[in-house]
Amino acid sequence: MEEEKIFFERHTTRKYLDKPVSKGLLTEVLTAATRAPSWANSQPWEIYVASGKKLEELRRAYLQSFENHEPHTQELSTPKVWPENIDNRIKKSFAESFKSMGIVRDDEAARYKNWKNNYQFFGAPVAIFLCLDHSLTDWSLFDLGMFANSLMLAAKAHGLDSAPAASSVSYPHHIRNVLDIPDNQKIIVGIMIGYADPEHPYNQYVSSRVPIEEVVHFRGI
Ligand SMILES: Cc1cc2nc3c(=O)[nH]c(=O)nc-3n(C[C@H](O)[C@H](O)[C@H](O)COP(=O)(O)O)c2cc1C
Repeated sequence: MEEEKIFFERHTTRKYLDKPVSKGLLTEVLTAATRAPSWANSQPWEIYVASGKKLEELRRAYLQSFENHEPHTQELSTPKVWPENIDNRIKKSFAESFKSMGIVRDDEAARYKNWKNNYQFFGAPVAIFLCLDHSLTDWSLFDLGMFANSLMLAAKAHGLDSAPAASSVSYPHHIRNVLDIPDNQKIIVGIMIGYADPEHPYNQYVSSRVPIEEVVHFRGI
């Protein structure tokens, strides 16, 4: 099916062309993404789209915090220990992506450059931050995840590339200040949008997936 291609063409894009994305195009993408399902059609997502001067202001604040080695204060927690099979996938993914990006394990400078790129929102012209009211539960987080994937697939369908990144919400106080996000909303994740720089080594990596037999458990079929 032609539509299925979009699933295979979306990749996390870690370097963007210096080419703006129009508000009209973003509105089309966001309109499609809000067709995502949600608990009782609650549509719990609160979406902040940063571009232009606002995004530059945020990038400057992030750069300062990154260079000062400020501790991350993401508003979602990460597991202290991952289950072994998942931990192995993560390690494999880091090894494969670093190799493909041309980053050698002991090359501190190259690793630093890569991390800095993360904290500069990969040079994307647009960063979209997804937020939820503090009182909501895991069900709404589940809804937000579906919205996030719809957003990235809709972006691809409109000729745009994207990157979801936990690193982009490492310093939520800057996002809250610069984008004027109310205190009752939790800043969950950022999704960068723009046009991929096709030549850049960071964009040559195509992630693998485990065979479906490893994660799909058919019963009675
Ligand atoms: C919630 C979430 C957080 C992520 N955070 C980062 C990040 O901080 N930096 C990064 O380079 N990629 C990040 N990624 C991208 C993943 O590494 C990527 O989705 C995965 O390796 C699969 O590759 P693909 O998206 O190209 O298919 C994140 C993805 C998700 C869904």
